[in-house]
Amino acid sequence: MFAPRKNVQRLSSDVLRRRVGHAARQCTRSFSSAPGIEQRLVGQVAVITGGASGIGAATARMFTRHGARVVIADIQPSLGEKLLKELGPQAEYVECDVRKEEDIEKAISKAYELENRLDVVHSNAGIIGCVGPIDEVRIDEYDATIAVDLRAAVIAVKHAVRFMKPQKRGSIVITGSVASVRGGMGPHGYTVAKAGLLGLVNSCAAELGQHNIRINMISPELVSTPLAAFALAALAEGGSQSVTVDDIDRIVKQNSMLPDRLLTHLDIANAALFLASDMGGYISGHNLVVDGGKTAAHVLQAGGNHWSTKYMPMVAENGKRGL
Ligand SMILES: NC(=O)c1ccc[n+]([C@@H]2O[C@H](COP(=O)([O-])OP(=O)(O)OC[C@H]3O[C@@H](n4cnc5c(N)ncnc54)[C@H](O)[C@@H]3O)[C@@H](O)[C@H]2O)c1
Repeated sequence: MFAPRKNVQRLSSDVLRRRVGHAARQCTRSFSSAPGIEQRLVGQVAVITGGASGIGAATARMFTRHGARVVIADIQPSLGEKLLKELGPQAEYVECDVRKEEDIEKAISKAYELENRLDVVHSNAGIIGCVGPIDEVRIDEYDATIAVDLRAAVIAVKHAVRFMKPQKRGSIVITGSVASVRGGMGPHGYTVAKAGLLGLVNSCAAELGQHNIRINMISPELVSTPLAAFALAALAEGGSQSVTVDDIDRIVKQNSMLPDRLLTHLDIANAALFLASDMGGYISGHNLVVDGGKTAAHVLQAGGNHWSTKYMPMVAENGKRGL
């Protein structure tokens, strides 16, 4: 899909995380110092699965900046602890493998016990999972993909609602993907899972509104994270090439409908904040696609839609141009 380049920074998880953390810190710093910005989650409690890295970590930063206490539920304790040092006493880390119902239940219970309330559950943990043509899919790998990318969200919603129903309030946000609405944006298992999440959101929105619980999804395009690096490496010649930060940024820009700007973690964290908080208070059952408009179009070359590059008079009924 793309050629590796020499003398560029190799993408390791650490490099990515530093980059991600730096970008998110810069953004949150400028947000927090801006006068007159209202904190949107003051006194609230949130859980974020997969909150130790990438999009989840950016959302944890955003939520704590907006006054929430956040439980980061993940399987990467060293990253989790590092994030806790940055976020201070507003954040907690819980070891939670989202493939296990009891772990998710424990993380959500722990969050509730902080303040006897549960305001936001962000089901975000994800993996790329099985890769390859459909006639070669290994069903054990497919099942393992679905366990993290779809089944875990069902479990998270189940336990979130157990706490949210009695308090008659709550917001659930699920990280989907552009793969939830289009084929070819990810491998088969991942795409099936992300499309399934859309079904989960629609189905639960129909039930949960009466309990004043909203449920929505965010569907990002490619953002620089370890998961994205893994995805691109898998795509590149069957995984034989390494992927660099520059590669990710270049691919994103080449394929973007907003080529002057890179999609960042902050864009996704902003979307999560909007849906989680009262800013999105009348929104439920929605899939907020954060892709610069890419999935809205059929084919677009960088630089714009060829139908709108040049004015041409309308064709009249007699076949001639002009009215
Ligand atoms: N990065 C992108 O380009 C992109 C695009 C669309 C959607 N997404 C989605 O965003 C979400 C977050 O991914 P990211 O890009 O930030 O990647 P990431 O690798 O930085 O974060 C994923 C997190 O999920 C955690 N996780 C994985 N398996 C887990 C398990 N069994 N139990 C608990 N935690 C587990 C990881 O430890 C990690 O912290 C995923 O659902 C992914 O599908 C990412």
